[in-house]
Amino acid sequence: MKKVVKIGISLFAMTALWASGAQCAGGPEPAPQTKAKTIKELVARYDSSRCIECHEDAYDEWESSLHSHSVLGTPRTAPTIITAIDKGLKLFPYSGVKEDKDITVESLMFCAKCHLPQLDEATDDVAREIVATIRGWQKASKEGNEDLADELEETIASLNIGCMVCHNKMAIIHKWADGYAQLDTVYGSQDGDHDDEKFPKMATAPALGESIFCGQCHGLGPNFELDEPSQCATAYGSYLYAYVAHGGSDSCQECHMHKSGLGHDMQAYNDETMIKMAVDVKVEARSLFWRKNKEDGVIPKGIINVDLYNKTGHVIPDG
Ligand code: HEC
Ligand code: HEC
Ligand code: HEC
Ligand code: HEC
Ligand code: HEC
Repeated sequence: MKKVVKIGISLFAMTALWASGAQCAGGPEPAPQTKAKTIKELVARYDSSRCIECHEDAYDEWESSLHSHSVLGTPRTAPTIITAIDKGLKLFPYSGVKEDKDITVESLMFCAKCHLPQLDEATDDVAREIVATIRGWQKASKEGNEDLADELEETIASLNIGCMVCHNKMAIIHKWADGYAQLDTVYGSQDGDHDDEKFPKMATAPALGESIFCGQCHGLGPNFELDEPSQCATAYGSYLYAYVAHGGSDSCQECHMHKSGLGHDMQAYNDETMIKMAVDVKVEARSLFWRKNKEDGVIPKGIINVDLYNKTGHVIPDG
């Protein structure tokens, strides 16, 4: 009898879970869209500029964050992708890549998984076009052809983690429970109509305000799900296993968006506010005279004790 009651309760718990899932914003998995065939098409699909009109602050903040140029980087990322191709992919005996023309979306996913997740909506031609554009940009810069270098740099920077990457593509994490992101919807913290022609609906993404949302790209360690696991960012792993495990309770959003006052301009050591929030430094110094030995005699000596206390939610630096 006891057993039956237990099963009854757990079934109830599951129904309750499903019921809460059903209220969420997601829905059935949308039919696959046609693949973007050029960089231009892919960029147009995720264009953030249509959002400026009504969300100027979010846009301006986002524009100065690294998310707005996540393939170009500081600009260290694009050249590192080329190094990964030349010194990695092309030398691995089973990667299937000997020359640039062999590059596919799958081969770039060991970086694009986090630096450009929407690449999975493009053809292999787009993967090759990205590589050719970065090589062209490096060559033009080296040869001092500044106009061409600027133009190509702009194209590389247009490949980014824009509004709809976070507010649609990556917005819903538990898709079996909460549903898949719908093509006409922006995901945030409210449900209802949304004043935009292309995205006329607005709905709730249950985990957008939680650390796990950022964790999708900010890394647990090696990306074991890939045939060739890569490892880059590991901040989320460190957050879970060091910070939270030792009692830390702030989320990524609380520190990086709210307490910092930076909103969508999520920053780290390049920003003065973040530097101030990063560490407590205690320095104690004293000087004395010390009799070393007969030859050197009494010499002046300084002792400096430096205590550094990491106040962030993870190791620094990351990666
Ligand atoms: C698990 C997701 C993930 C993968 C996969 C990944 N990266 Fe990163 N990468 C990040 C994140 C997040 C940052 C920024 C945070 C940081 O600095 O740790 C970053 C930072 C970087 C930086 C420094 C940023 C700058 O602008 O100076 C470089 C360079 C870089 N990645 C290159 C690569 C390359 C090349 C690959 C593929 C071989 C790759 N990453 C794969 C997530 C990833
Ligand atoms: C014509 C104006 C308009 C345009 C264009 C527009 N939005 Fe909105 N959006 C709104 C209004 C109004 C709200 C409701 C704001 C509120 O109640 O705080 C909203 C709400 C949202 C929310 C939910 C906010 C929350 O509280 O969680 C998100 C996310 C969002 N918009 C993203 C976008 C993105 C991304 C774009 C570009 C693809 C965009 N919007 C374009 C007017 C617009
Ligand atoms: C890297 C992911 C990311 C990107 C890119 C991003 N957002 Fe957000 N956005 C968030 C998160 C996370 C929140 C919720 C913050 C919280 O929980 O307090 C949010 C909140 C919002 C809100 C609700 C109110 C507010 O301002 O906090 C609006 C509106 C919004 N975003 C619009 C945009 C627009 C427009 C863009 C592009 C210019 C954009 N977002 C780009 C992650 C992102
Ligand atoms: C779609 C993947 C993705 C998501 C989601 C994402 N990020 Fe990032 N983030 C990146 C990448 C990639 C970079 C580095 C870009 C580069 O420089 O190449 C980055 C850069 C950063 C940086 C700057 C790091 C530096 O070295 O200066 C911070 C801070 C940051 N992200 C915080 C967040 C926070 C907080 C969230 C959640 C609200 C979040 N990110 C969500 C991929 C992501
Ligand atoms: C308690 C506040 C706090 C929390 C929680 C927090 N951060 Fe940070 N984070 C900071 C501060 C302050 C810095 C600036 C220190 C630095 O970059 O050296 C920083 C730096 C970073 C950097 C750059 C690291 C580097 O190489 O120096 C990344 C990336 C980042 N945070 C992402 C995240 C993500 C993702 C989360 C959630 C999983 C998170 N942070 C949670 C405060 C926090």
